[in-house]
Amino acid sequence: MGMGKDKISSVEKTVEDKSSVRDDCNLFREMCHRDQKAKRKLTATQVTEKCQDDYMRMQKQNTKKQRPKHVKTTKKSLFNITRLREVLSDDKDIPQNDTGALPSHGTKQAEKLNTFVNKEPKSLKDRMQEQLKSARFRYLNEQLYSGSGALAYKLFKNDEDSFRVYHEGFQSQVSKWPDNPLDRIIQYVRESRSSSVVADFGCGDAKLGESVPQKVFSFDLVALKPHVTACDMAHVPLKAGTVDICVFCLSLMGTNLLDYLLEAHRVLKLEGMLLIAEVISRFENISSFIRKLEKLGFILINKDTTSKMFVFFELKKKANYDKTMLPEITLEPCVYKKR
Ligand SMILES: C[S@@+](CC[C@H](N)C(=O)[O-])C[C@H]1O[C@@H](n2cnc3c(N)ncnc32)[C@H](O)[C@@H]1O
Repeated sequence: MGMGKDKISSVEKTVEDKSSVRDDCNLFREMCHRDQKAKRKLTATQVTEKCQDDYMRMQKQNTKKQRPKHVKTTKKSLFNITRLREVLSDDKDIPQNDTGALPSHGTKQAEKLNTFVNKEPKSLKDRMQEQLKSARFRYLNEQLYSGSGALAYKLFKNDEDSFRVYHEGFQSQVSKWPDNPLDRIIQYVRESRSSSVVADFGCGDAKLGESVPQKVFSFDLVALKPHVTACDMAHVPLKAGTVDICVFCLSLMGTNLLDYLLEAHRVLKLEGMLLIAEVISRFENISSFIRKLEKLGFILINKDTTSKMFVFFELKKKANYDKTMLPEITLEPCVYKKR
């Protein structure tokens, strides 16, 4: 994946100049410092520290890589030239031939190159900020899957900023998916009776409530919108037997999934519906998951596994359950890969 000679030398010139690069690095350091200071008293300080560690590790790995001979760096350079070259050569779509020569004018390849050249490159600071946010998102996501809902509630209660970071990261993932499972749930609710009462467990930014005419109670650990009730969804402030549709869209996180499902059972009317959309890779055995839900008094109405990424369940509350025979319900965590 080579680059045109002109481009490389212009990059090196920029690096020699170094002052703007140094500004970027200083800004980044300042940003991390502010971040750390503001959160010193909070548990989530660890989040920032972990992100910094990730960043330092990344820097170390990059410096370990062999530098091409023709790229000069000074001993004290704050900046990793090898990394800059990698960053600039990241775009695999840049059309080049083996010699690195530019394509002839008027060809499709030349058009593609034009688009690339005219694209405003992201500054180093922006890229670093993105990486920091992405590392924080992955860390928080891991926390949500590896602890109880009660613990997650405590964590975010003291640190709403982290919750926003988590949700920005989640939305950025959603934007890469071919479709959003929430859209399907929205469609389902729209087609239900207009008098249906809905409870959205783990509503995120409460898009469901904003997209349907039915009455929706939206619950999440932190209220991103005024009509969201902040709580641990193992205990929602609704009376028993008052809800027609309970929704869990990608929200069966935490180690106590059973508590959430029992809470949905409590608030549902008899014959009320339970809708679950989850990432398919979280299931070791879908049939066994359904059998466990049946032990909780639900019957399966519909299961859709046609999507490559998600699975949808539509269940109906049919009976009470035997409190002495509760099944253990676990799902694999959903881990987002570092990009
Ligand atoms: C992956 S997001 C999905 C958000 C939304 N349902 C959607 O599809 O856009 C999962 C949401 O569940 C929430 N959540 C996880 N455990 C929770 C709990 N114990 N109580 C309340 N909300 C919880 C998270 O805070 C997060 O906002």
